[in-house]
Amino acid sequence: MNIREITTSSLDPQRFIADQVQKISSAVGSGLAVNALSGGVDSSVVTMLGYKALGDRLKTYFIDNALMRENEPQKVVAVFQQLGVHVELIDARDEFLRALKGITDPEQKREAVTQTFYKHVFGRLVRGSGARHLLQGTILTDVDETVAGIKRQHNVFEQLGIDPQEAFGYQILEPLIQIRKDGVRKVAQALGLPESIYGRMPFPGPALAARIIGEATPAKLALVRRATAITEAELSGTPAFQYMAILHEDRVTGMRGGRRDFGFQIEIRCWESIDAREARPTRLPWETLENLSRRILAEVPGVVSVTYNIATKPPSTMEVV
Ligand code: XMP
Repeated sequence: MNIREITTSSLDPQRFIADQVQKISSAVGSGLAVNALSGGVDSSVVTMLGYKALGDRLKTYFIDNALMRENEPQKVVAVFQQLGVHVELIDARDEFLRALKGITDPEQKREAVTQTFYKHVFGRLVRGSGARHLLQGTILTDVDETVAGIKRQHNVFEQLGIDPQEAFGYQILEPLIQIRKDGVRKVAQALGLPESIYGRMPFPGPALAARIIGEATPAKLALVRRATAITEAELSGTPAFQYMAILHEDRVTGMRGGRRDFGFQIEIRCWESIDAREARPTRLPWETLENLSRRILAEVPGVVSVTYNIATKPPSTMEVV
C-alpha cells in the first residue's frame, strides 16, 4: 500500500477538485455511480465531487439507521437540496434495530451496524441501482488507524486487502484517500458547502449506538438522542473539538416527587483535541455544567444522575463503544 499524501499546506483545493472530478468521470465512463451520504464532511465532499463529475448519474442515498441525532436525516437532505443535489432518504430504521437487538458487546455492536449497512441496506441499493462504482469518503487517517489496529473503521475494506468486488460486488472509488480531515474541510469550503457541513463536529459511523453502554434499544436511543440535542445546544458556543452525551447501562438510586426512583445516568464528555489521537477534557465553566445538568434532569425522562468525564485519552477513548 503506497498512498502519496497531499499535505494540507500544499493542497490547492480548486486543483484537487478538478483532478478528482476528472478521475471520477473517467473511471465511471458513461455508467452510474452510487454513494451513501451521512452528512459528515467526508461523505458530503464525496457527494459534491461525484455530482460535479456525473450529475444525475450519481445516486446518493442517506440511510436513516435509527441511530441519528434529532431531525438529522431531514436537515442533511435539505442542505443538499439547496445545492441542487437530490439525495434519496432511505428509511432502514427497523432493519438496524433488529440487527442491534440483544447485542451488548461494543465490537459486536459496531459489527452489526457495519454489516447491516454494507451487506444488507446499502448493498441492496447498490445492486438494485445498476451502478458498478461506489464513491466512498475514506481519508488517509482512516487508513493509518486501521493499519495500526487501533479501532476498526467501517470504510477501509480495500486497505485491509479485502477485494471489495468480491466482498460486496462493486468497485470502490476513494477520492479523499490522499488527504486528511483539515484538507477535506478546505475542499468542502471550496465546493461551496455550508459551515454546518465543513465545520461540523465529528460524529461516529455507529452514531448514537456508540454512545449507549449496553444494548441500543429504541427507548435508550430516544433518551440519548434528547440528551445529545441538549448537550449540543448548551455547548455549541465552546471551541471544543467534540462533545457528546453518553447513556450508561447501570441505573442508580435517585428520588423524584419524594419517592425513590431507580434512574438513568448520563455522562457528558467534552474534548480538546487536534486530531482525535489524543484528547483532554475541556475545563468547562461550572455554570455551563450546571445548566446542562438542570436541563437534562428536567427534559430527559428517567435521568437521575449527570456526570462530567475528566479522564484523558489515552487511556480513555472519545466514544464509549
Ligand atoms: P475514539 O472513540 O476512537 O474516537 O477515541 C476518535 C474519533 O473518531 C470518531 N469515531 C468514528 N468516526 N466512524 C467514524 O467515522 C467510526 O466508527 C468512529 N468511531 C469513533 C470519534 O467520534 C472521535 O472523533
